[in-house]
Amino acid sequence: MELPLSLYLKENCRTTHDSVDHLVMSVKPFDTIENYTRFLQLQAVFHQIVDAIYKDQLLNQGIEDLAELARYEEVLKDLKDLQANTKNITQTLPIPQGKEVLGWLYCAEGSNIGAAFLYKAAQHKLGLTAEYGARHLAPHAEGRAKHWKDFCDQFNQIDITVEDRAAALKGALDAFATYKALLREVFELSPATV
Ligand code: HEM
Repeated sequence: MELPLSLYLKENCRTTHDSVDHLVMSVKPFDTIENYTRFLQLQAVFHQIVDAIYKDQLLNQGIEDLAELARYEEVLKDLKDLQANTKNITQTLPIPQGKEVLGWLYCAEGSNIGAAFLYKAAQHKLGLTAEYGARHLAPHAEGRAKHWKDFCDQFNQIDITVEDRAAALKGALDAFATYKALLREVFELSPATV
């Protein structure tokens, strides 16, 4: 039997996800407030790219209150808390299209799962909270695992064709690749070696 879309994406993005995880940790985002600020600047660009997807009318019919899950505004508030600004990015930002948006959405919403670890680090190492500086990393009221399950249940009900599934995977892989490219620019690393 065919895997639900979220599991299909998970299976096919695992290696890429882990390379993103390693790249993020390699820049030590929680060691200093300067590093964390850069991390927020990175998150801001990524969430800006996916903001329109969260607010898409059709997707909001399939996934209840999707628009309220968007975290772009929260990241901006986190930056403001730290009296920091967004960073101007020189690379061209992608505009996700067609069914590729499903993969982008999977990538952005799923990043909340790993954010449990990031949220703890922000709290314990930098003294940030859900009201100050780490708003966008805070868990959903119903808890991360339950929220992710509810999200996936609705996400997996979206009616898609075999071609849509391939497009969604391309979108997810593009989202992870974009995240890496943005990280490299924001943290001023040399261009792609991973
Ligand atoms: C240091 C950074 C990160 C760490 C430590 C981390 C860690 C994790 C962990 C532990 C999970 C749960 C895996 C599982 O249940 O099998 C997860 C899931 C996920 N993460 Fe990350 N993550 C990080 C960064 C990111 C970023 C930057 C993105 C997106 C741009 C992302 C996207 C996802 C997605 C989509 C899932 C859901 C996988 C699924 O269950 O389908 N993660 N992450």
